[in-house]
Amino acid sequence: MVLPFTKLPALADDPAIPRGRQDLIPRRARAGTRAAVTPFSVRMPIPPVAQPMMSAGGLDLYTIPIKPANADILPGVRTPVLTFGGSFIGPTIRARTGRAAKVVFVNQLDMAANVHLHGGHVAAADDGHPMDVIDPGRMRAYNYPNSQQGATLWYHDHSHHMEAEHVYRGLHGMYVIDDPAERHLRLPEGDYDVPILLRNAQFDDAGALVFGSPFDRATILANGRPQPYFPVAARKYRFRLLSVASEYTFRLGLGGVEMKQIGSDGGLLPAPLPLTELVLGTAQRADIVIDFSRFAIGTQIVMTDATSGTPVLRFDVTSRASDNSRVPNTLRPLPPMPAATVERDVRLSFDFFSGAPVGLVNGLAYDPNRSDFTVKRGSTEIWNVSNGDSAFGIPHTFHMHLVQFRVLARNGGAPLPQDAGLKDTIELPPNSTARVQATFTDYLGRYAYHCHYLEHSTLGMMAQMEIVP
Ligand code: C2O
Ligand code: CU
Repeated sequence: MVLPFTKLPALADDPAIPRGRQDLIPRRARAGTRAAVTPFSVRMPIPPVAQPMMSAGGLDLYTIPIKPANADILPGVRTPVLTFGGSFIGPTIRARTGRAAKVVFVNQLDMAANVHLHGGHVAAADDGHPMDVIDPGRMRAYNYPNSQQGATLWYHDHSHHMEAEHVYRGLHGMYVIDDPAERHLRLPEGDYDVPILLRNAQFDDAGALVFGSPFDRATILANGRPQPYFPVAARKYRFRLLSVASEYTFRLGLGGVEMKQIGSDGGLLPAPLPLTELVLGTAQRADIVIDFSRFAIGTQIVMTDATSGTPVLRFDVTSRASDNSRVPNTLRPLPPMPAATVERDVRLSFDFFSGAPVGLVNGLAYDPNRSDFTVKRGSTEIWNVSNGDSAFGIPHTFHMHLVQFRVLARNGGAPLPQDAGLKDTIELPPNSTARVQATFTDYLGRYAYHCHYLEHSTLGMMAQMEIVP
């Protein structure tokens, strides 16, 4: 079956960019083809919720296969994908603070894979270290203690050199930690608490995913469908937004309709942040509340992405529903910040000049046998993170495993609105620096930190710290 495609204009290659590596440089317009799907012609699904095989002794046990499947993404076409549990957006694991989960992943692929709980505070052995993989035909139990506060996390493949392609082809799912300590806030819950995984993709004319340049991924997907519609009741909803689009920043708006951001990567903000545009970078999460109660039945509200100038999804107000949820003026105070005792510099860049491009952190490509930093358990540190590719105009991001950090400063000044709260991933555009602070509690061992443009970490833009007693 051949789909009609719209060819978007391609831009001439920029001569200032190292030859052969045009794909690493952001372009001013999308050069890929956008699947010619009428916007709002398919309904946005909600990813299935994983059901525990067993719940006993304070533990929920799940089994999730990692396997190929054919997914309904574009209407009328089956697209070969890689999945957790058979669905293109893996099943949402709904965990609870104070209750552990053990997830057994069974690798049914013909190649190694593994699982990292992004934003999770877990032991090193359960962190999905890039070299710690599940061989084909094997299984692996990951222990997630869920000792952290309520947060919207996600899980994805992290097998070294394959992470970018694996995640692109579908090895991504949401992991929501509900926190009993937040129940008194009476935020929207149940059917009115909806995860939305946003990403982009490139399809060939048979509807297959093309793993090529991130700048050619011109089709935007919400929960795995192109520009879908989503029926809502005229009341408040909590949407947990996650962006899995690599080398891309969503700028989401509702045509001036206010959204209240209530949470970030690591959990609730201290107070709701009213917004008309939400900046959501790669791997980041934002919990927002939208109140549809003032709209008449029949109203359609389009969420648009200003970066691509295209709609992302449409909310259709189709019914009434009672609503005793609220968005209190104070949510949850941020944890105290102990004084930092160590300060370090981290610089992300490429080496374009010694052959194939190599990703670097502080001048070195990733070496799984090297500890780049030794961090004392329990200590608090400040890291000054910078983009070393400003001359090429290449943006990066910065992600740390194990911890949620706080952004103290940006380019020597105040943090950006999207830096608020507990963060595990921040954007690092050209000519930018960020000063971040983290406290390394509980666990010992090796944890990665890297650029979360997985095409960059695949090329070596990753390092690791060893947490020691
Ligand atoms: Cu979301 Cu090291 O990754
Ligand atoms: Cu990067």
